[in-house]
Amino acid sequence: MRSTSSRYGSGAKVLHWLTVVQVLAAYVLSNGDGYSLYSAAADGLRRIHEALGMLVFIVVVMRLLWRLIDSTPVKQPMLPWMAAAARLVHFALYALLIAIPATAVLGTWLEGIPVTLPGFDIAPQITKAHGLGQLIMEIHTILGNAILWIAGVHTAAALFHYFYLRDEVFQSMAPGA
Ligand code: HEM
Ligand code: HEM
Repeated sequence: MRSTSSRYGSGAKVLHWLTVVQVLAAYVLSNGDGYSLYSAAADGLRRIHEALGMLVFIVVVMRLLWRLIDSTPVKQPMLPWMAAAARLVHFALYALLIAIPATAVLGTWLEGIPVTLPGFDIAPQITKAHGLGQLIMEIHTILGNAILWIAGVHTAAALFHYFYLRDEVFQSMAPGA
């Protein structure tokens, strides 16, 4: 369950790969075919999108808590700029994994719209400020697109480690033993 000096443990791996699947699914299900996610036609899609997005938030909080009690594998020797870039990208991913659900909940509530999950709604508990809510939802869209680009760079780096540098970075997070 716990990480060793060379591999992330199953706890960290499960939470990492669950996040990957949830983010990709939330992204794919963010696009109503030419209609707004708010429209009646997109009701089912929006509920699944919002549920997946909330699960992302829950899983990332679990990951951060797990990180407090679990060690991380010993860093592979690499050039200082590469280590700094990896730290920056991981920080950006964590920040986005929190900011994307946070902007969505705040934005919809300020718009005066409930958060809609499969089977139930959570109505806004804050004063309506429709214009500000719309602006925050635009930021949500920008961040939702940005995480795909940053995850793309992160994936390319992981593959670069595996195929070119041939070190243990990719294997440390790869599914399986
Ligand atoms: C990691 C999780 C999430 C990702 C990657 C994501 C991504 C996106 C993207 C890319 C869009 C824009 C779709 C378009 O092109 O029109 C969008 C829209 C939307 N998202 Fe999310 N989202 C996430 C989580 C959430 C959560 C947790 C909620 C609600 C609690 C939510 C509610 C919405 C709503 C209501 C819209 C429509 C906004 C509008 O049309 O102005 N999303 N999301
Ligand atoms: C939405 C997609 C992804 C997100 C949000 C994401 C997020 C993260 C985060 C936050 C970390 C830091 C973990 C820690 O706390 O130490 C991490 C590590 C890692 N990820 Fe991802 N990841 C994604 C996709 C991928 C993919 C597709 C791969 C492989 C092809 C991958 C391979 C790795 C590896 C090897 C590490 C360990 C890096 C190291 O310890 O230096 N990730 N990921």
